[in-house]
Amino acid sequence: MRKITIKLNDELRSVYVEPEETLLDVLREKLGVKSPKCGCDRGDCGACAVLLNGRSVRSCLILAIETDGQEIVTVEGISKDGLSKVQNTMLEKNAFQCGFCAPGMIISTTELLGKNPHPNVEEIKEALSGNLCRCTGYSPIIESVQEASKE
Ligand code: FES
Ligand code: FES
Repeated sequence: MRKITIKLNDELRSVYVEPEETLLDVLREKLGVKSPKCGCDRGDCGACAVLLNGRSVRSCLILAIETDGQEIVTVEGISKDGLSKVQNTMLEKNAFQCGFCAPGMIISTTELLGKNPHPNVEEIKEALSGNLCRCTGYSPIIESVQEASKE
C-alpha cells in the first residue's frame, strides 16, 4: 500500500492504494466519487472518463498510484456550484435514457467546450467518439452540446 495525495474536485484528498488499483476503483470504492461508471473496464466505452489535469482520460486504464500529485475533476466537481450549461441543455432535451453514459459524455463535452466553445457537429461527434451510448442514438446528446455552445 502507498499513500497518494490528489487534488480531487478542488479538494486535497489522501488515500492508501495498492499498486494495481485503477483510478476508477479508487475513486468509486475509496473516495466515494460515484459518477465515473464501470461500463467495460478495458477502455472501450468512456463511461469512466474523468479530467486528469484538464484532459479527458479513461480512469479504468490508469493506475491510481500514477496520479499522485495530479488534479482530477469528475462530474461532482463540474456541478459543485450548480449544473453547467451543457448539463442544463442535456436535461432540457432529455438527452439520456438510462443515464449510464452521461458522466462520461459530460466529461468529454466539458473538455471540448473548454477548448472550443463553438464546435460544429463534426467536432462534437469527434469529441464524443470514445463515448458509447446504448440508448439514445446520440442525436439528443449532440443537439444538447450544440445548444449549449450557442449561449
Ligand atoms: S469502463 Fe473505462 S472505458 Fe469503459
Ligand atoms: S442513456 Fe443509456 S447508455 Fe446512454
